[in-house]
Amino acid sequence: MEVVPLDSESAVADMAAGLLTALVSRRPDAVLGVATGRTPQRTYAELARRASGAGRSLAGVRLFLLDEYVGLAEGDPAGYLATVLREVAEPLGISPDHVHGPDPSRLPESAEEYERAISDAGGIDLQILGIGSDGHLGFNEPGSSLTSRTRIKTLTRRTRADNSAFFPGREVPRHVMTQGLGTILEARHLLLLATGESKADAVAAAVEGPLSASCPASVLQLHPHATVLLDPGAARGLRRLDDYRETWAGKPEWQRD
Ligand code: GLP
Repeated sequence: MEVVPLDSESAVADMAAGLLTALVSRRPDAVLGVATGRTPQRTYAELARRASGAGRSLAGVRLFLLDEYVGLAEGDPAGYLATVLREVAEPLGISPDHVHGPDPSRLPESAEEYERAISDAGGIDLQILGIGSDGHLGFNEPGSSLTSRTRIKTLTRRTRADNSAFFPGREVPRHVMTQGLGTILEARHLLLLATGESKADAVAAAVEGPLSASCPASVLQLHPHATVLLDPGAARGLRRLDDYRETWAGKPEWQRD
């Protein structure tokens, strides 16, 4: 795992946008796994800014969502498909036909279909990930099987409280459909972004704790190419912070993506 402690939240967005820009330059039809939530918003904005500044079209890129709420009306603006269309695809100039998400209205068949859609696309080149304050990845809450596939899950009270700002005046759904941890592990490159002190304990458990379903994000330890970009708040609980800094600083440029 490459752990990269950075100086600020904007440095996290800059580096993530740099990695994504390098990928889409190499592979204009790259398959990107996209996370929702607050953390990657600056990265998407920075990627859009760079692409338009360079006159680069991202129209060939295909997007696959990590997860979706169950029970929302089609097109509900808080739904993750609507969010990705609005906040990622549109600013990047990616057509809605290139955006795929799990369909909770047709469970359980749609779970297997989503797995198939990902593999028919050739698998995910790079999966952007955030981390829940309880260590969840996608919506794989603590206790999720480390080899799980796309399926329905129940949210914890903590996650529903963390996401309540996206549902002003109404309840956060209790159920979700999410790629499993086994699904996520099949992406060729995992890019976890974490910012703010509220993520410090989860990041420390994921990076330095034991591999355990109690911290679903600890599955990153099993992946051959996982990059973790952290701002100072999110990196606060790490015991080996200086080692990570030194290792990253010593890496030659060509090894950085
Ligand atoms: C949400 C999403 C995740 C996201 C995480 C962190 O519930 N399902 O995909 O990465 O929790 O969200 P945020 O970035 O808003 O802290």
